[in-house]
Amino acid sequence: MRAGSHILLIISGGIAAFKALDLIRRLRERGATVTPVMTAAAGEFVTPLSVSALAGRQVYQDLFDLTAEAEMGHIELSRAADLIVVAPATANVMAKMAQGICDDLATTLLLATDKRVLIAPSMNVRMWDHAATQRNLAQLKADGVLVVGPTEGDMACGEYGPGRMAEPLEIVTAIDDALSSGPLKGKRIVVTSGPTHEPIDPVRYIANRSSGAQGTALAAALVALGAEVVFVTGPADVPPPAGVAVRKVETAQQMLKATQDALPADAVVCAAAVADWRVANAGTQKMKKMGTALPSLDFAENPDILATVSQMTDGRPALVVGFAAETEHVLDHATAKRARKGCDWIVANDVSPETGIMGGSDNEVTLITGDGPEHWPRMTKDQTARKLAARIAEALA
Ligand code: C5P
Repeated sequence: MRAGSHILLIISGGIAAFKALDLIRRLRERGATVTPVMTAAAGEFVTPLSVSALAGRQVYQDLFDLTAEAEMGHIELSRAADLIVVAPATANVMAKMAQGICDDLATTLLLATDKRVLIAPSMNVRMWDHAATQRNLAQLKADGVLVVGPTEGDMACGEYGPGRMAEPLEIVTAIDDALSSGPLKGKRIVVTSGPTHEPIDPVRYIANRSSGAQGTALAAALVALGAEVVFVTGPADVPPPAGVAVRKVETAQQMLKATQDALPADAVVCAAAVADWRVANAGTQKMKKMGTALPSLDFAENPDILATVSQMTDGRPALVVGFAAETEHVLDHATAKRARKGCDWIVANDVSPETGIMGGSDNEVTLITGDGPEHWPRMTKDQTARKLAARIAEALA
């Protein structure tokens, strides 16, 4: 299991809920972060205190808990995870999932998520064998839900047959498989992200307003599809996503070196806002006021990482993707940029202030490939990232 994998664990109300405690322990031993969610019925079998003590985090239980909602909305809770695991999954939860019913926090999260879901069913053998449960199971599988177990054996209710929840270690193996599968499994992708800082002297620098949000969302989306991601990031506002190999840099020159050191790769995506120039005469000591005379800065051009990688003659990645943020003539400028830099794709967007895109949570882009431009509707940066990651997966298939 990749250290830093983030599991949202939903514990529903079955006798096997006690095994969820062991599951949490095993997942944390392997470096995973576990965010626990309990249904009301789960609280009849295990206490929130033991669950939160083992997870080392707060347990989420109530859809209408204002503190939790203020800290992290339920939609965000369902999207921050790499995988959602329902263990145990009772017949009731399976039925609600199959129908899209959301009448508590757990089922609302399951309906709101766009992440993969793995269920570990647990119920009495007759409930498992019932036509309704088997119908729900078939529906869930058709919806892409992953299933581990149940196993056959003596049941808490005294009967014998299938319905026992899979053992925690079997669930861990199923989680491992789910996390390491996906269309980008075995592919190595380098993503540059964030701004660069170009020093003027040891305490001052030239920067830009890039938050790193789009590059971070893209790296997370690539990881979710199974890619091995090297995330080369300047000093961004948002933390790096889980599951990537982080290379922190400050300057454009460092970013180029870190990118080159991360090669060979199947794809490189340059989402960083790299400073075009650095200060050539940066001071080694803090610059002092010089009476009325003003300091003078000399500039040198920074290396263009996207162009350098695109124009490699030996070991060029199969796919090189750049971004073009423009305020006018977006398509013309972006198309020219694609040709000039020699990259395969350009993701172009209009960042004029009236679009609210710069610093906002939405994006509206045009993907320019060798086949021409393709306009995508306005959507969140996360959705844009997932759509782009899916396209990258298709291209590298
Ligand atoms: O030329 P411009 O900065 O508009 O190009 C934007 C694209 O080029 C982005 O993908 C950005 O990450 C990349 N770039 C780069 N190195 C630079 C400048 C831009 O990789 N020095």
